[in-house]
Amino acid sequence: MKITVVGAGNVGATCAEYLAQKELAEEVILVDIKEGLSEGKALDIWQTASVNRYNTKVIGAGNDYSKTKDSEIVVITAGLPRKPGMSRDDLISTNAVIVKSVTENVVKYSPDAILLVVSNPLDVMTYAAYLTSKKDTSKVFGMAGILDTARFSAFLATELNVSPLDIQTQILGGHGDTMVPLPRYTTVAGIPVTQLIAKDKLNAIIERTKVGGGEIVKLLGTSAWYAPGAAAVQMVEAIVRDQKRIFPCCAYLTGQYGLHDIYLGVPVKLGKNGIEQIIELEMNNEEKELLNNSANAVKTVMKVLDDMKII
Ligand code: LAC
Repeated sequence: MKITVVGAGNVGATCAEYLAQKELAEEVILVDIKEGLSEGKALDIWQTASVNRYNTKVIGAGNDYSKTKDSEIVVITAGLPRKPGMSRDDLISTNAVIVKSVTENVVKYSPDAILLVVSNPLDVMTYAAYLTSKKDTSKVFGMAGILDTARFSAFLATELNVSPLDIQTQILGGHGDTMVPLPRYTTVAGIPVTQLIAKDKLNAIIERTKVGGGEIVKLLGTSAWYAPGAAAVQMVEAIVRDQKRIFPCCAYLTGQYGLHDIYLGVPVKLGKNGIEQIIELEMNNEEKELLNNSANAVKTVMKVLDDMKII
């Protein structure tokens, strides 16, 4: 198994490190356009192998995509991160050009690879990778829901003083402030969360979750990387180990949830074939309305991409 991570910034390097520690591949290839960055970070990560006890080789390829040849999975993290005051959507003009060019290079050397997009604005960058690669939508999808649910779980675990391992939840919609956390589908060891926490407290946690990425951007001056990296690797693990796990992921909808021709966060089954099933939850009217609002926000940014006329 050979896995490529494009972008050796904070998220990409964290992905490469976690992939190696979990030994999800024989080789992890790290690519970055910035001279020396992927080589330096890959060397540093590889030099932890004897300490952290793993065999996965981590190799910096610079900007030489021929070294990514025949990768089975490619994680695309390339692009600028947010600075304080920016929304993810503000990144579109820069990152669309980057994601398009990365996808072309990746597909040239690994035509059969599964593409996992992490670059922002996430839903629309996944769409850009799909349009550029012309691959089946089961093989092109994005990481957002696992990150957003991980944040929701962390806040709930702190509030309730329980283990985050016992929290199950779903967040649908776009990876932005319109995301749709679903308290009705949130439990702590099977107990509905609504029985454990007062409504106003739960609402405050939901609102904090929606801007959870922004909270970190404000604190650090750039976007998060540990949780995004871990979330992407959890998706890769489900694919490599054919786990058939069910996660909210950014997937292409063809009528599910009444939505067409859009990449949006929904629960999917992930296995060796990529997205093996899109799961349709039963939604009440309020939830449907929130999801439609989120889809409209994503469609607005999709239109910006279309108007750029680069793909
Ligand atoms: C975040 C960025 C990576 O949510 O989208 O932290």
